[in-house]
Amino acid sequence: MEVTNKLKSLVARIETGLDQHVPAADTRPSQLHAAMRYSLEAGGKRLRPALVLAVAELSEAPKIPDPLPAAVAIECLHTYSLIHDDLPCMDDDDLRRGRATVHREFDEATALLAGDSLLTHAFALLAEAYAATPTLSHALIRELSDTAGSQRLIGGQMADLLGEAKGDATPEDLDYIHLNKTAAMIETALVMGGILAKWDSEQLDALRRAGRNLGLAFQIVDDILDVTADTATLGKTVGKDEATQKTTYVRLHGLEVSRQKVQQRTTEAIAIFSDLPGDTAFLENLARSMAQRIN
Ligand code: IPE
Ligand code: IPE
Ligand code: MG
Ligand code: MG
Ligand code: MG
Repeated sequence: MEVTNKLKSLVARIETGLDQHVPAADTRPSQLHAAMRYSLEAGGKRLRPALVLAVAELSEAPKIPDPLPAAVAIECLHTYSLIHDDLPCMDDDDLRRGRATVHREFDEATALLAGDSLLTHAFALLAEAYAATPTLSHALIRELSDTAGSQRLIGGQMADLLGEAKGDATPEDLDYIHLNKTAAMIETALVMGGILAKWDSEQLDALRRAGRNLGLAFQIVDDILDVTADTATLGKTVGKDEATQKTTYVRLHGLEVSRQKVQQRTTEAIAIFSDLPGDTAFLENLARSMAQRIN
């Protein structure tokens, strides 16, 4: 219960931050800004921004900059990756966050441009909101741009699509895909929180290790839910991975081993969290609830 209430209050802060830091829907050209907001405002678990805020709150430094713009930036970047992931040339999905995907509600060109705009906006926000602390601004931009780039998020997405066509991806290929398309952003959410909290490089490394475990567990759960969940609860069409012959954990390892892996990786992440400074109970409970999520 405690974890749910705390998460709810973080999500409320994030929703307010999104509204404050993203251009209004009627900004010219309104079709573009409406599409950006359509996707952002559809909900979503807000997990990555919640991780930024949760880690920043562990800071024992006397005063830290407001972590909310960084949380909004990572959610903008994540949402762009979902809009593009759903395009017909990628996963070709009709439903996202319980709503028609952006290219279905608007059109493909608008979806492409709304994704481009959210991606670019993430970095503009980090540059602007932390302009008074250039070293911090630079560190956050560097962290997020590394993760969003061709050797991490986008590289993982490329390998995911190539794996589909190839059909004989190995467990090593699958780990590359999951570590990059998904775990990278979870790692970075934690690390951005740590940068804001003024942590040293050893502590940031610990966050990275925790994020790698948590992120892998997260994508394995995503693969499991594609098989076990129902479309209404999930807010996206189930059974898509099977239909498109995606290389997933369930496909390569089966449901039972996949569930064991989720537990192992989650336990590992929790152990790392518990050694961090401050009261890490919420982060540990959040990791547990992420392993048990139903959407
Ligand atoms: C979906 O991410 C894409 C993956 C990396 C599995 P989420 O499951 O966090 O999606 P939202 O933000 O809650 O919609
Ligand atoms: C997508 O993985 C990861 C992203 C970077 C968007 P999936 O393709 O499995 O995500 P869903 O299932 O469509 O949310
Ligand atoms: Mg995909
Ligand atoms: Mg997809
Ligand atoms: Mg999926």
